[in-house]
Amino acid sequence: MNTGVRRIAIAVAASTMSLSLAACGALGAASSSEASPTKGNDITVGVLMPEKTNTRYEEFDYPIIKKKVAELTDKQGKTIYANGEANAKKQATQMQQMIDEKVDVILLDAVDSHAIAGMVKKAKDAGIPVIAYDRLAEGPIDAYVSFDNELVGEVQGRSLVEALGSGIDTSDKIVMINGSPSDPNAGQFKAGAMSELNGKVTIAESYDVDGWKPEIAQADMTKAIQALGKGNIKAVYSANDAMAGAAIKAMEDAGMDDLPPITGQDAELPAVQRILSGEQYMSVYKPYPGEAEAAAEMAVTRVQGKDIQFDALATDSVDSPTNKDIPAQLVQVVALTKDNIKSTVVNDGIYTVKDICTAAYASACAAVGLK
Ligand code: GAL
Repeated sequence: MNTGVRRIAIAVAASTMSLSLAACGALGAASSSEASPTKGNDITVGVLMPEKTNTRYEEFDYPIIKKKVAELTDKQGKTIYANGEANAKKQATQMQQMIDEKVDVILLDAVDSHAIAGMVKKAKDAGIPVIAYDRLAEGPIDAYVSFDNELVGEVQGRSLVEALGSGIDTSDKIVMINGSPSDPNAGQFKAGAMSELNGKVTIAESYDVDGWKPEIAQADMTKAIQALGKGNIKAVYSANDAMAGAAIKAMEDAGMDDLPPITGQDAELPAVQRILSGEQYMSVYKPYPGEAEAAAEMAVTRVQGKDIQFDALATDSVDSPTNKDIPAQLVQVVALTKDNIKSTVVNDGIYTVKDICTAAYASACAAVGLK
């Protein structure tokens, strides 16, 4: 294990620890302040997710939030859910509906963090707190919970450097496929990655992919292959797994048999399998329970007026383009490679070995001792 990866692994362990301590604190202290809560357990949490192409939101984030809200409210609290499907207007309409329905609090993962600011203000004016989830929405939000997004980019960049090995040369041509310009995380991933890649390789082609759409990423990768020549691409930085899959498709369609190392993010099941088969070099595993449970706790403690517990959940602080010193919790991440599939996604119950090691991957699984 190289030191960078070890540092991150330790950070993950530490964050999981502090998270569970914080959780204990929140639950432990709950009874003492139950005397004068703003609201009881009968609350409604509105949850707005940004897209479906990337499977994490519907498979993990929302179900975990829903379960945690129920658990924290003695099964009396409920969640209502809408997915914006990468359409900012659609999400604004969904948010308006939640305001009209007078939900008690909104967890918002914005399609477009800038465009949604007006709706955040509307919610605030209606007395509904808004907690930004994963992507930092602009406007008067109450708090933010996310992963350490700059670290995500650093982990990706560092992995790519590691994959290129000791023969790495500043003239090595890299193609960069970045996330959506409307998603502030995308800029942070890119900045983190650049901090590791700068001066070590040449970013020969770079694209920002609207809405994180795989079909756009595939077309961009095809353009890059045409511009650079298929033998001249040393590595591909893809900001997430769905786009990595698309870039691999473009390379395979162009007849590139020897795929260069390619990064990803989100530990999606097909990506975990591509890592096993060697088509994708790495992904970033973001421990979803850490983020989603913290969000549920923040939402419930805010509505119930449990300020001390709320503050304990948001000990970091971030600035958005419109607001300063937003209380935040930033959860750590870990590089996912062939070697730690078991200790990450399998141990956390994200996938079973059976999910991953289907017939086509049986020998690859055996080779890394995944059983
Ligand atoms: C980001 C998020 C990533 C990935 C990406 C594409 O905002 O942090 O985990 O899901 O969007 O949807």
